Amino acid sequence: MVYLTRVEHFNAAHRLYNEAWSDEENTRVFGKCANANWHGHNYELHVTIKGEPNPDTGFVFNAKTLGDLIKDVIVERADHRNLNLDVDFMKGKLTSAENFAINIWKELQPHVAGNGVQMHRVMLKETQNIYVEYFG
Ligand code: NI
Repeated sequence: MVYLTRVEHFNAAHRLYNEAWSDEENTRVFGKCANANWHGHNYELHVTIKGEPNPDTGFVFNAKTLGDLIKDVIVERADHRNLNLDVDFMKGKLTSAENFAINIWKELQPHVAGNGVQMHRVMLKETQNIYVEYFG
């Protein structure tokens, strides 16, 4: 089994806010991330798929095709958008890096499956110091 990772970048705004809580509680839990007027992140997305190299190409999967897939399915829909308001697959969800990574996986999975490869990991880096990993 060989693991292939493609890295893509995008920028997006969001706000962490639980509507069931008071403003004070949201600020206590989420700090600056609860800021009413949003804030942004430069996201770095690593998508890892796994499979056996094709004997005709030596590739597990075409890395350019994987990049195009991530751009079409995720980056085009999230880049320069507001995750809370504009991104349909995050509607009604807390836009934490954790939830975002899970939903990125869900969006990509149907496009990756069926090509002789499987999803392995979505790694989403929100800041220099914080990233999350989801393995399905
Ligand atoms: Ni944030």
